Amino acid sequence: MAGIAAVSPIGTVTSAEAARVQSGIGEVDRVLGGGFVPGSIILIGGDPGIGKSTLLLQLAGRLASNGGTALYVTAEESTAQIRGRAERIGAVVDGLSLAATTDLDAALAAIEGAVPTLAVVDSVQTLTSPELSGPAGSVGQVREVAARLSELAKASGTCVALVGHVTKEGTVAGPRTLEHLVDAVIYLEGERLGSTRLLRAAKNRYGSTDEVGVLEMRGDGLAEVDDASRFFLETDETPTAGSAVTIALEGTRPLAVEIQALTAAASYGNPRRATTGIDTNRVLMLIAVLARHAGLNLSGHDVYVNIAGGLRIDEPAADLAVATALASSLRERPVRHGTVLAGEVALSGRLRAAARAERRLLEATRLGFDRLVTGTMRGEREPSLSAGMVVARDIREALAEALEG
Ligand SMILES: Nc1ncnc2c1ncn2[C@@H]1O[C@H](COP(=O)(O)OP(=O)(O)OP(=O)(O)O)[C@@H](O)[C@H]1O
Ligand SMILES: [Mg+2]
Repeated sequence: MAGIAAVSPIGTVTSAEAARVQSGIGEVDRVLGGGFVPGSIILIGGDPGIGKSTLLLQLAGRLASNGGTALYVTAEESTAQIRGRAERIGAVVDGLSLAATTDLDAALAAIEGAVPTLAVVDSVQTLTSPELSGPAGSVGQVREVAARLSELAKASGTCVALVGHVTKEGTVAGPRTLEHLVDAVIYLEGERLGSTRLLRAAKNRYGSTDEVGVLEMRGDGLAEVDDASRFFLETDETPTAGSAVTIALEGTRPLAVEIQALTAAASYGNPRRATTGIDTNRVLMLIAVLARHAGLNLSGHDVYVNIAGGLRIDEPAADLAVATALASSLRERPVRHGTVLAGEVALSGRLRAAARAERRLLEATRLGFDRLVTGTMRGEREPSLSAGMVVARDIREALAEALEG
């Protein structure tokens, strides 16, 4: 007999919202929606070596120094290894304890015994329940680990942060295996060799999924950057040919981003097209549009496009800046001083205004730019003609506005 579930009038139920626990790292709290919600379980996913363990150990350390308690359960590294990392990042603090086990039941018992504010479990793929037959990391095991930890979190009020490795397909432990079992899925991203790390929420029951956290990997751990918007901007002095700045909107936060392009006469065979931080097919499309609608033929040129600072840009509003950087490199003419670009390029060569163009212009102005070249578009997205807003109908017109000479 299962008995009867307790029924409470909603007015008498207290909200977990009120009791959010600040992580001590502002960028993490921003992505979580204001901090950890007690009794919730979050999954932190990311490529191998990107810094998941570092981030969570740092969070555990901060939380413990701010009067909470944290338990770090490691199923991958020894406690001695964790201690070494903790020394490097300043996380050897009272209130933070370590436990090493690969056994799910032992891990659960340790967390139940300690009842910490935050329990870190590193990782979901290396803990196993002996009751299940599958090997560590199999779908059955991974689901069991997440489900049992989730139950524990709900019952005890402990926040559980679970590390998950991203598989080759780019998902945590197989497609959607875990997403519905946890309250939030946060990805730590970045170029392995670069130092910039971005935190993004793929799912969040307690906050928006639009917010992006910007962190920098340093010797002493992940640090917040002073002015995230300026962080991806490499040129701040004289404009050089092949460089164009866009204001990207990542969540509610505008980020100024420099797009770098290099076009060089191809020596033999098929010209090369290489990109970092942006979809190559999008660049190929822009190359074709430039040829067809702006008279810029790149068929005999190698083309390289790079997003500065290790950021990855997916929004179509970056199109115009990419096309402008390409044209700027080919014509050896820099972008006009003080100009940023944001607009989507259509196959017809027409330009759509970037969503929230005014917000972008405002940010550009704060950073010392004074013109935003964008497109026209019917409907609500049509930008108002405020000072500094330059509206171009098509790519040819936009390039005339954007490039010097
Ligand atoms: N001594 C050091 N100084 C500076 N950075 C370091 C140092 N040691 C490690 N790092 C950084 O930490 C990263 C590894 O971090 P971490 O072990 O937290 O990643 P992870 O995502 O947990 O990896 P894994 O998938 O192996 O568990 C390295 O790639 C490097 O950038
Ligand atoms: Mg790790």
